[in-house]
Amino acid sequence: MPKRYTPNDELSQKAKAEGYRARSVYKLKELDEKFNLIKPGMTVLDLGAAPGSWLQYAKEKVGPKGKVIGVDLQEIEPIEGIETIKADITEPTLLTLPTIPKSIDLILSDLAPSTSGVKDVDQWRSIELNQAVEKIAEQALKPGGVCVMKVFRGADFDDFLRSLKTKWETVKTAQVKASRDRSREIYILIAN
Ligand SMILES: C[S@@+](CC[C@H](N)C(=O)[O-])C[C@H]1O[C@@H](n2cnc3c(N)ncnc32)[C@H](O)[C@@H]1O
Repeated sequence: MPKRYTPNDELSQKAKAEGYRARSVYKLKELDEKFNLIKPGMTVLDLGAAPGSWLQYAKEKVGPKGKVIGVDLQEIEPIEGIETIKADITEPTLLTLPTIPKSIDLILSDLAPSTSGVKDVDQWRSIELNQAVEKIAEQALKPGGVCVMKVFRGADFDDFLRSLKTKWETVKTAQVKASRDRSREIYILIAN
C-alpha cells in the first residue's frame, strides 16, 4: 500500500537533521518569530519539557548569560547548560524547589495530558494543567514577564480564555502551522 503523504512528517525529518529532539521545536520557533519571545540573557522556565526540543531552542536563544530550566513528569536526557527537574507541575510545592528561579522572564508550556480517549475529559485535563501553569505564572513571573501555554480547544476553552482576560492585561492566541492538529491546538500568551 502506498505510504500516505503528510506534510508534517517533513518536520520530524528536519528536526532530526538539525539536531532537535522533537518536531515541536518548530512550534516554538513560529511562536518566537510571531511574538519575539526569547531574548539573550533571559531566565526561561519550560513546563512539560520532555524530550527537550524547546529547551534546546530556548538555550540557543538566551545564550550564555541566560538560564533555562525544564520540568517534566518524565526524565529529560541531560542537555549541557540546562537544569532539568522530574516533577509534576501541578504539585503546589513546585516553586519551593531551590532549582526553580523565583523571578522568571518567560514561562513556556507545551504540556499535554496523558489522553483517556474521551475528548471532553482530555480537553478538561488540558485546561486543568493550564490553570496550574497560570498559578505558576502569577507567582513566579517578573513584572513584564510573559507566559505561553498550549491548550486543547473544547467545551471549556472559551470560559478559560475569558477568565484569563479578567486577570491579565495582555491575552493573545495563536495557532501554529507546525501543529499536527491545528484546529484543536491553540497557544495562549498572557502577560501583565
Ligand atoms: C508534547 S510534550 C512536550 C514536548 C516538548 N515541548 C519538546 O519540544 O520536547 C508534553 C509533555 O508534558 C508532560 N506533562 C504532562 N503532564 C505533566 C505534569 N502534570 N507535570 C509535568 N509534565 C507533564 C508530558 O510528560 C510530556 O513530556
